[in-house]
Amino acid sequence: MADSSLLEEVRANGSSPGHVALVMDGNGRWARRRGRRREAGHRAGLLALGRAVEAALASEVEMLTVFAFSDQNWARPTREVAALLGLLELHLVRAGPDLLRKGVSVRVVGDLPRIPPRLRGRLRRVVRETREGDRMWLNVALAYGGRSEIVRAARELAERTARGALLPSEIDENSFAEGLYTSGMPDPDLLIRTSGESRISNFLLWQSAYTELYFTPVLWPDFSEDDFFRAVLAYQHRERRFGKVFVP
Ligand code: IPE
Ligand code: IPE
Ligand code: MG
Repeated sequence: MADSSLLEEVRANGSSPGHVALVMDGNGRWARRRGRRREAGHRAGLLALGRAVEAALASEVEMLTVFAFSDQNWARPTREVAALLGLLELHLVRAGPDLLRKGVSVRVVGDLPRIPPRLRGRLRRVVRETREGDRMWLNVALAYGGRSEIVRAARELAERTARGALLPSEIDENSFAEGLYTSGMPDPDLLIRTSGESRISNFLLWQSAYTELYFTPVLWPDFSEDDFFRAVLAYQHRERRFGKVFVP
């Protein structure tokens, strides 16, 4: 591990965030600065994802949710979309056995039917292959959008109500959350966004109501294990109140 003194500090502080969400942004700018094509940035970004998984495991994080491709990213040039999805297919799928060895169990959150069939099939395989991973969940958000996820959950409840299977008065935060892709998962404790942008960009809108946000200027392909530990350390010094009065 790069600089284990930061990891030692994380461990000494005790409580790591149980669930970390990651907006992996800045691949294109990373490539441009090197006079390379955007695809080169996405390739380097996948290596950074490997480092983030290692760092999350070392920090004893139980769940890592990474934003790999948004609903809105479909609007990018066809060539870039194809390159991105192709790289994901190659990389993530090959990573299956290695992830399992590390104790990582993969899941996909997002609008699966929109994912091209070959990638979808391979994703299913990696989910199956890593089912026994018992150290950390890795949720890959693909074809994911927070607003469309909320609309989808609302539609599902409306259909159940129209069928008479549910009373409007039975709709509450719990039944609503069951209709989200993240049903059954805890909300993120910490959300990290790289590349200096201070926005959520439609990621986990419902789920991040009380998530601690951490923004760093580091471009995603440069994101190191130490950068991950720095984010966890910042989290460990936050005071979470959930609207209540803090009692020291
Ligand atoms: C993140 O990097 C990867 C995805 C959004 C899929 P970008 O491709 O957004 O890179 P920038 O933000 O243009 O630098
Ligand atoms: C967010 O990054 C989506 C992913 C990292 C997959 P974007 O680059 O798409 O977001 P904006 O355009 O900066 O808001
Ligand atoms: Mg971006």
